[in-house]
Amino acid sequence: MEIPFAESFKIKMVETIKRSTREEREEWLKTANYNLFNLKSDQVFIDLLTDSGTGAMSDKQWSEMMLGDESYAGARSYYKMKDALKNILGFDHFLPTHQGRAAENVLFSVLVKDGDVVPGNSHFDTTKGHIEFRKAKAVDVTIDEAFDTQIDHPFKGNLDLVKLESVLSSYPKEQIPMIIVTVTCNTSGGQPVSMKNMKGVRALADKYGVPVCYDSARFAENAYFIKLREEGYQDKTIKEIVKEMYSYADMATMSSKKDAIVNMGGFIGMKSKDLWKQASTYNIMFEGYVTYGGMSGRDMNALAQGLDEGTEFDYLETRIKQVEYLGSKLEEYGIPFQKPIGGHAIFVDAKKILSHIPKEEFQAQTLGCELYLEAGIRGVEIGAILADRDPETRENRYPDLELLRLAIPRRTYTNNHMDVIAAAFKNVFDRRKSIKHGLRIVDEAPIMRHFTVQLDKI
Ligand code: F0G
Repeated sequence: MEIPFAESFKIKMVETIKRSTREEREEWLKTANYNLFNLKSDQVFIDLLTDSGTGAMSDKQWSEMMLGDESYAGARSYYKMKDALKNILGFDHFLPTHQGRAAENVLFSVLVKDGDVVPGNSHFDTTKGHIEFRKAKAVDVTIDEAFDTQIDHPFKGNLDLVKLESVLSSYPKEQIPMIIVTVTCNTSGGQPVSMKNMKGVRALADKYGVPVCYDSARFAENAYFIKLREEGYQDKTIKEIVKEMYSYADMATMSSKKDAIVNMGGFIGMKSKDLWKQASTYNIMFEGYVTYGGMSGRDMNALAQGLDEGTEFDYLETRIKQVEYLGSKLEEYGIPFQKPIGGHAIFVDAKKILSHIPKEEFQAQTLGCELYLEAGIRGVEIGAILADRDPETRENRYPDLELLRLAIPRRTYTNNHMDVIAAAFKNVFDRRKSIKHGLRIVDEAPIMRHFTVQLDKI
């Protein structure tokens, strides 16, 4: 008999989670104004809101916490993190920040100015936010295949090099502070970028004299997909692949809450000492002194250890096979989602499931509420509520895709939880035609409305 796959860890500490009744959930959801961010975590049985900062640290990471050096300047923990970044990503210079968006804030304060253009593969919301906040424009140059959930393409995170070159050739280089490559591309469904594509981006960057920045939140998951899917990488280790990936970048921003498996933390990695010098000033202003930048020593230690563990094949295989396990169950039940299965989440195609509900009634948010009511599972809407209003016309923006993201925290849930999620989704899917109406907005903030929006049933 073939030996089945099993996780490459055993469990040493557990946290109790609570089941609830449908009546309780109906009450709680109403009180939360149909916005899943407003729920208390105790009202959630399985929390798939995000894979960011929600993973389980290892015993080695916890022991590193005890060794943290909390000195204000020159802490041992800073040097431990510096060594990890140099060894794993190859950056000579770095600045710690409290999370990913803080790294964006500091780096973009140096590089991005009014009127600039920043091409990239579907910039993450905070990245786009930090670009637009500086009155610059984020231009999405992702390949077209990414916008059809049913097209199977191994590297749906790829940048379209023709689209990219057209941007690079349309503006003077002084107006293009960087090209952003998001690995994996969260917005298009946790989809990877191929090494070939990264080389192509590097070649264009050199041709036009523009630097390349990797938004690195899930860089290790990206390397795993390269190993599995790209010709010539099968026999390389994840760490070798990562080293090659970053040989094509000038700098990186990182939310360490994902692939470095910590609850809080981030950094900027840089090859240029001059850039480091300029960014240091902003780091001191916004984050903290250059050797801690918003992180405790213990957290820098855990981060350094997490970077090492997070770039080991066995860990990544366990992680991504769990996401695949959930995806294969949903597939079996006929539930449509972004294909192929991404690294950190399943992005369910709400537009296809609730096609009888108009987009003005927020299909993905409606589906998210139904899944919560079914079994206390919390996903997150990646659709019209998140897309917000056009800053000029103030009209609602309706993106091509209305998705409900089920993000899987690292090393947190078992496959029994995946079975519960799949069964709950099947029940919602089977009764989809009985869901007659969606939601309407009662109150919303002028920007980033999805966190605080208040909705009501129609
Ligand atoms: N870049 C990417 C690709 C991200 O997915 C995120 C965060 C950030 C940058 C910002 O990092 O949260 O540490 O400030 N993504 C989380 C998510 C919030 O749920 O996907 P941060």
